[in-house]
Amino acid sequence: MKNHTYTLITGASNGIGYELTKLFAAGKHNLILVARSENKLLTIKEELELQHGISIAVIAKDLSRENAAQELFEATQASGLAVDILVNNAGFGDFGDFLDADLAKLKNMLNLNVNTLIQMTYLYAGEMRKNGFGKVLNLASLAGLTAMPYFTMYAATKAFVLSFSQALDEELRRTGVCVTALCPGPVVTGFENAANMHYSPLMMIGAYSAKQIAKAGYKATMKGKSVQYGGWVVGLVNIVSRLLPRKLMRKIIKKALLS
Ligand SMILES: NC(=O)c1ccc[n+]([C@@H]2O[C@H](COP(=O)([O-])OP(=O)(O)OC[C@H]3O[C@@H](n4cnc5c(N)ncnc54)[C@H](OP(=O)(O)O)[C@@H]3O)[C@@H](O)[C@H]2O)c1
Repeated sequence: MKNHTYTLITGASNGIGYELTKLFAAGKHNLILVARSENKLLTIKEELELQHGISIAVIAKDLSRENAAQELFEATQASGLAVDILVNNAGFGDFGDFLDADLAKLKNMLNLNVNTLIQMTYLYAGEMRKNGFGKVLNLASLAGLTAMPYFTMYAATKAFVLSFSQALDEELRRTGVCVTALCPGPVVTGFENAANMHYSPLMMIGAYSAKQIAKAGYKATMKGKSVQYGGWVVGLVNIVSRLLPRKLMRKIIKKALLS
């Protein structure tokens, strides 16, 4: 089955998505790579097809546009590319005062991190359920575990991704389709630049590299685990955020983010 089906990875051109792409390629999965940077994707295609003897399709698309998921689904259907693993990885954050942020950028974030992810999951997991097999990996975040002042919108989008993924995984039990939410802590990628922020040394304690978090996410997806935390610090934040009063948790997070 694996030889005729594809793993679709969004945000495959950089960071965690690129590391996931290399792992799926090494696992002999055919790939559909999606991001805006077509040239980067074509270079990755050339390198990995040769190395692993797999088939890779490249689709350059801005997934923050309203109809992007539908267009992508129609394009893969028209080309006869059956997707049995979907990785909703593309996403970005925006650090700073909510009221001083660019509203258009925030809308794009909501579209990419939430709306496109919902539509992609609806369309592709629908096909997977018909086939009785499939896996969805959604990139949530440590930011999805607790409200985050100055990362207000981003944390809210990732809280959505985490809740949505866990509920859907439970709904889909016994259909052959699993949904995994991956919750990385701070990872050095292009993310900081895109979010206009800088990770302090305090925030990097126990941090995973993009390679490490991709490996954890790949393993969890293949096992059908519903949630995977990116290291002991994220696991600890998950426990502490349930034990401490929420107001105190927000104050601690604010201090850590401004350090
Ligand atoms: N890095 C962290 O600290 C961290 C922590 C927790 C969670 N995460 C999550 O992990 C995921 C991957 O982040 P990363 O750290 O790997 O970031 P990254 O290095 O900035 O990579 C983001 C990827 O998404 C693609 N992308 C961005 N906007 C897009 C758009 N409008 N349409 C299509 N593709 C788009 C980018 O490619 P193009 O620019 O070519 O489009 C790139 O391939 C995100 O969902 C992020 O929220 C990251």
